[in-house]
Amino acid sequence: MTATVAPLLEVQNVSKYFGSVIALKDISMHVNAGEVMCLLGDNGAGKSTLIKIFAGVHQASEGRFLVEGREVRFASPRDALGAGIATVYQDLAMIPLLSVSRNFFLGAEPTTGRGPWRRFDVGRADRITRDELAKMGIHIRDTAQPVGTLSGGERQSVAIARAVYFGAKVLILDEPTAALGVKEAGIVLRYIAQARARGLGVIFITHNVHHAYPIGDRFTLLNRGRSYGTFAKGDVSREEIVAMMAGGEELEELGHELEEFARGDSVAAARLAETARELEAEARAVSGGDTTPVPAGSHSTVGRQGAAAGSDTIGTTTSPD
Ligand SMILES: Nc1ncnc2c1ncn2[C@@H]1O[C@H](COP(=O)(O)OP(=O)(O)OP(=O)(O)O)[C@@H](O)[C@H]1O
Ligand SMILES: [Mg+2]
Repeated sequence: MTATVAPLLEVQNVSKYFGSVIALKDISMHVNAGEVMCLLGDNGAGKSTLIKIFAGVHQASEGRFLVEGREVRFASPRDALGAGIATVYQDLAMIPLLSVSRNFFLGAEPTTGRGPWRRFDVGRADRITRDELAKMGIHIRDTAQPVGTLSGGERQSVAIARAVYFGAKVLILDEPTAALGVKEAGIVLRYIAQARARGLGVIFITHNVHHAYPIGDRFTLLNRGRSYGTFAKGDVSREEIVAMMAGGEELEELGHELEEFARGDSVAAARLAETARELEAEARAVSGGDTTPVPAGSHSTVGRQGAAAGSDTIGTTTSPD
C-alpha cells in the first residue's frame, strides 16, 4: 500500500541550468492529495521554472522527479497531462470570443452524429459545463456567453473546474490571483479550497503571502533559485514568511539606501534654494534693485545671465565636496 502514502508529485534535489544561469539549485518538495502547497518567492526566484518541470515544459538538469512514487521523465506537456497534472497559467489558454462551454471542452469536444454529420454537441456540452461549474459552486448566468465577458476571477474558476472535470490529480496555478482585485482573488481562493476538498493536490504559486497564508497547508520559499525550506502552517507565522521572503539583510540594505537617498535629497533641496536666492539677487541687481518682472526688451539678457549663473551654480554644487 505504499502507493497510497506516496506524494502525488515530488521532486528531490532538482537543479535547472539555462546555460550559465542557475535557475534552480537543489530543490526538494512534494504535494500530497488533498493539500494546498504554496510556492512563494520574489521575481526570478525560480517558481515558474519549477512548475514548468512539473508541467513537462522543461526537463530538470539534475535530480529526481516522482509521480505517485514512480520516477518519471516528461518529454512534453502532453505527458504531464496524461499523468493527471494540470497547469493553469496566468494568461489562460482560453479563447475570449468562444462560449464558456466551448472553452470548457476546448480540444476534447463532445460530438453528435456520424461521419460528415458529426458536430459539436452543444446541448451536452452546455449541460456538463453547467453541472461541473455548479459542483465547484460556480454559477454562470449562461454557458453560451463568450468567455471574454467573464471577469478574471470567473475565468480562472472555469479553468480550475475544467482541470478537475478532466481528471487532474494535481492542479498547478501559476500566480492565479496576481492580476485580480481583492474580491476576485477571494473567489479564486475559494475554488482552490474546493479543489482541495475534492482530493486534488494543489500547487499554488504566488508573490502574495496574504493570498497564500489563509489557503496554504505548507509553504515552500524560493529565493534566487534556492529553497529556504518548507514550512507547515502551524510552524510559521505570516510575518515570518514575509520576513523570509524579503530577506533580512536585503531589507537592511534597502533601509540604508533610502536613508542615503533622503539625505541626498535634503542636501539637493537646500542647494536648490540657495541657487534660487542667488538668481533672485542677480535679477534684482540687473534690474537696478527692482524686483518687479523685467520688461520684455531686457528680458533675454536677464534670462541668459540667469541661466548661465544657474547652470554654473548647479554644476559646482553637484560635484563631490
Ligand atoms: N528559458 C530560459 N532561459 C534562460 N534563463 C531563464 C529561462 N527561464 C527562466 N530563466 C531564468 O531563471 C530564473 C528564474 O526564473 P523564473 O521565471 O522561474 O522566476 P519566477 O520565480 O517565476 O519569477 P516571477 O515571479 O517574475 O514570475 C530567472 O533568472 C530567469 O531569468
Ligand atoms: Mg513566474
